[in-house]
Amino acid sequence: MNIVLIGFMGAGKSSVAKHLSHLLGYSLAEMDELVYQKTGMQTMHEVFAKGGELLLREVEIEIAKEYSLKKNYVISTGGGVIQNKIILDYFKKEGAKIIFLKASFEEIEKRLEGDCSRPLFAKKLYDLRNPLYAAYADIEIDTESRSPQEIAHAIQGACDGL
Ligand code: S3P
Repeated sequence: MNIVLIGFMGAGKSSVAKHLSHLLGYSLAEMDELVYQKTGMQTMHEVFAKGGELLLREVEIEIAKEYSLKKNYVISTGGGVIQNKIILDYFKKEGAKIIFLKASFEEIEKRLEGDCSRPLFAKKLYDLRNPLYAAYADIEIDTESRSPQEIAHAIQGACDGL
């Protein structure tokens, strides 16, 4: 079974995915890194400048098709996968558990202070997407005031109950 982490930029998907994959003995896939591998580009700014958001979303679909067929992966998605439902549908169709990592916008802003690596970061997008993550996920995990290790343990416990 694959576990797919979703949530807004800065929700902690990448660091939680690392801990969770260790904890479960699963492989780790980081979608943004896979986008760089597949495009030969090195930053999201480069991806957006050369191919626009369309390129990012097309490559994300390709990755979802490929990784949904793998077994025992923890997959850390880019925050935008929720706007292209087909991406998460690929994973869900193969029985993946979808976990929403939730944090307030204020908390995310604090975490990302001084980080300019995300061209789409905006409160408007947070408000638009947050209900979509919640509606799609099998499990919702509150990340505020919790370490990535604690969150990984919480996800492990919640998945046992499914
Ligand atoms: C995006 C989120 C980013 C990255 C890109 C677009 C988005 O990933 O894929 O900048 O649309 O929310 P993270 O959620 O890992 O920051």
